[in-house]
Amino acid sequence: MKKLALLAIPAALALAFTTNAMAADGKAVYTDNCAKCHGDDGKGATKMGQKLGARDYTDAKVQASFTDEQALKSLREGLKKDGKTMMRAFELSADDLKASVAYLRTFKK
Ligand code: HEC
Repeated sequence: MKKLALLAIPAALALAFTTNAMAADGKAVYTDNCAKCHGDDGKGATKMGQKLGARDYTDAKVQASFTDEQALKSLREGLKKDGKTMMRAFELSADDLKASVAYLRTFKK
């Protein structure tokens, strides 16, 4: 019994560490690449965000309006509306893009 507990601790620590590291990555990618339009709080209330019409990502309805797949496609290929570029395509790794979308999801209230 004692032996089992000793084995379980490192496994739990490793898991906690991995999860934390991933969340930190998403935040860093977001802060570097996304916050100037979408805002540190996801509300899009920055100068650039307002000019381009970034939506409020704390709104559950806005979050529900696209799937993760759509979001990743928009980030890979860029997003246009009425011929106007809303977001350019990002040259980030698939993992970084996924992490930034996962971080964007955390703004939902
Ligand atoms: C140049 C400003 C700008 C930057 C930088 C930017 N976005 Fe956007 N983004 C927009 C605008 C404008 C829209 C369209 C309006 C909206 O949906 O908020 C948009 C839309 C989106 C959407 C919705 C996509 C869809 O298909 O409906 C997601 C998700 C998103 N952005 C995530 C991000 C992430 C993650 C980053 C960083 C990797 C990022 N954006 C960087 C301006 C920007």
